[in-house]
Amino acid sequence: MTTTLFLSDSNSDIQHAATLINQGGLVSFGTETVYGLGADATNTLAVQKIYKAKGRPSFNPLIIHFSDTDHLFQFVQKTELALELSLKFWPGALTLVLNQKLDNPVKISPVATASLSTMAVRIPNTHVARQLIHYSKKPIAAPSANSSGKISPSTAQHVFQELNNKIDAIIDSGPCQVGVESTILDLSTDTPKLLRPGGISLEQLIPICGPITQSQPIETKIIAPGQLSSHYAPSLPVRLNCKNVARDEALLAFGQPIEHTGLCKNLSITANLEEAAQNLFAYLRFLDIHGKELGLKRIAVMPIPTSGLGLAICDRLTRAAAPRLNK
Ligand code: TXA
Ligand code: MG
Repeated sequence: MTTTLFLSDSNSDIQHAATLINQGGLVSFGTETVYGLGADATNTLAVQKIYKAKGRPSFNPLIIHFSDTDHLFQFVQKTELALELSLKFWPGALTLVLNQKLDNPVKISPVATASLSTMAVRIPNTHVARQLIHYSKKPIAAPSANSSGKISPSTAQHVFQELNNKIDAIIDSGPCQVGVESTILDLSTDTPKLLRPGGISLEQLIPICGPITQSQPIETKIIAPGQLSSHYAPSLPVRLNCKNVARDEALLAFGQPIEHTGLCKNLSITANLEEAAQNLFAYLRFLDIHGKELGLKRIAVMPIPTSGLGLAICDRLTRAAAPRLNK
């Protein structure tokens, strides 16, 4: 593949990107959560390129992105709860797993859904993402635009550092507003299941859904039953809930920082969880790169509450700290 094209978020650049999507290319674009790596979800060859560029195992299905609910519900079964949630949270950081409709003449590639009978769907909340889908007139399969298992990208530069020469284009629309991936809620069975905490909090969902059970995401179930697999992982090991920092550690602080004279980033000095989520992936990358340059051995992370967006932040950090099983 030739050098990755850097595009702006002007309408003409988005139109150009849509042409690349229609030609079976890979385009990274900003959503409100993280940057996605998009391809035409109906084109198997294009979807296969996503798995190759990311080094992603083929059993791990992708989220399919739409620009409007009418188009989306042509592909998946509309339940009462799905409709209610879609009205409240779309466009936005919520992904719903729903049963596929089998009678739709347009088929999503089974490579994108890992041949499951369900499909993960969402409508992202950025102009760029929705225009790209609108101009290409295609549902877009898009995982986060990072190498499989690594830290998700919240800026176009993060994508470029990792995927340059492996993808056709990146549309730069600035840093992502939410900073952590969408919440994934499985509505394909009787009780709603939280598969991944994310940009929409449990506190926001429960008044509409009632009780929500928590379950392991599909990839974790398959890779390491009963265990957390390493994901969102910097190359330096991560130590959680630290109350002190060693000299050979970088510090990822939250709120009033503990005593440390070395390398440090504070997710939010005012202990604001929205600000912390926005900064999370960029600061993890920063500490990883500069910590390694300085010969540090670990990233120590201060305790973070699990309420609101804290649940998603703690989930990502726990996976970043998990044993590196498959590496
Ligand atoms: O915020 C986001 O969701 C971002 C942006 C780009 O939209 N996308 C994202 O995609 O985080 P990815 O591929 O990094 O994570 C998608 C997750 C995976 O854990 C996958 O296993 C799960 O969604 N998934 C996809 N289809 C599924 C299905 N039918 N049933 C259960 N889990 C599914
Ligand atoms: Mg991802």
